Amino acid sequence: MKQLFLDIQQLITLEAAAKKQGRQIREEDLSVISDGAFLVSEEGRILWTGARKEALKNYSGPDFKMVSLGAQTVLPAFLECHTHSLFAGERFEEFELRLTGVSYEEISRRGGGIQSTVNATRQASSEELKKLLQKRIQNFRKQGVGVVEVKSGYGLSLKEELRLLEVIRSLKDPLVVPTFLGPHSASPETPNLDEYMEDLIRKGLPEVSKRSLAHRVDIFIEKGFFTLEQAERYFKAATDMGFQVAAHVEQLSRQGGADLARKFKALSVDHCVNLSDEDIQELSNSSTTSVLLPSADLYLNVDYPPARKLIDQGARVALSTDFNPGSSPSQSLELCSLLARLKMKMTLPEIFSAWTVGAAFALGLEKDRGNLEVGKFADFQVWDKPWSSFFYNFEEIHPRDLYLSGKSVAIS
Ligand code: NIG
Ligand code: FE
Repeated sequence: MKQLFLDIQQLITLEAAAKKQGRQIREEDLSVISDGAFLVSEEGRILWTGARKEALKNYSGPDFKMVSLGAQTVLPAFLECHTHSLFAGERFEEFELRLTGVSYEEISRRGGGIQSTVNATRQASSEELKKLLQKRIQNFRKQGVGVVEVKSGYGLSLKEELRLLEVIRSLKDPLVVPTFLGPHSASPETPNLDEYMEDLIRKGLPEVSKRSLAHRVDIFIEKGFFTLEQAERYFKAATDMGFQVAAHVEQLSRQGGADLARKFKALSVDHCVNLSDEDIQELSNSSTTSVLLPSADLYLNVDYPPARKLIDQGARVALSTDFNPGSSPSQSLELCSLLARLKMKMTLPEIFSAWTVGAAFALGLEKDRGNLEVGKFADFQVWDKPWSSFFYNFEEIHPRDLYLSGKSVAIS
């Protein structure tokens, strides 16, 4: 039966933000409907949005199930577009080491960092990894997140990387989006980066494609990790095979990865801390979304990305926690958004758009998700506070309810 959701003081549809493709968002782009209502089809798609009065005129009777939300605010569900949620172990010793002045790159050179998580992850059984992942997905859902992207990248051999992607698939959750991050760091078995890249291109990508384990690929372009030249070969092979591309770029130093990825029509370039003015201009005129990850910048004690310049010049931005055990051991959307406000000078409407419309674009899901308008899935969160009070206190944020495709999801 069709469902009519109503009794919503402020229905935030972000319809105008979606029309502007998440660029240069102002308060009016939140598209707030006072005393709003919306109609959802049996398949969970939105059929109509508008004022309650009109809804009652047109959509009451035995064909419609009325759902009174009694809510102050209804928002589109957030999308988490960049996470490394599939890992075992922790890295608190490394955190302490960094506090004494040892850099992230130096820790990696000494065999710590990503490599130490690879060891712990390889030792964990697929069943253990699945349990860890389920718990972390649930932690995101509790914060109003519908879609969660999860990267591989802590296997670092073809066999182990494929095992991680199989674990993601075993969740059988259509809103968990897998990304192949084979080139995250050197492989313990194939320490030569060129050789490992050759393996990834010749055997890894074809196998991921054949088994339909992921439709997206990612790479870490950085000093001591993968070079621009290796990334170019990877992007060429991946795009020829029909993969969508994302990349970790300009996180610790500027290597030219943002420019390269943009030329390959990457869906997103992520981190973007060390961008040149020219990079900013090129990204602003491109279809590539800049994914900003301020919790990682906080933990690594580095600069924050030039969000204001990107946004003011017309770039589409998304936010994400970058959740991982090393550079961002935090799943908190609240922390990330507070940093966006305090350190990157983003406004609240920009932040709401970044978690919804921007993140949907970063995942290539913008036709189906990311905001509440006719034709899109009814993924929404129900709150008992006004939108203007978000991301102010530092505390865990929890909506009262989360609905995905029009169905209530257990989040407590
Ligand atoms: O996004 N930069 C590379 N990858 C992660 C860190 C992974 C790790 O340190 O385990 C990041 O920051
Ligand atoms: Fe990352």
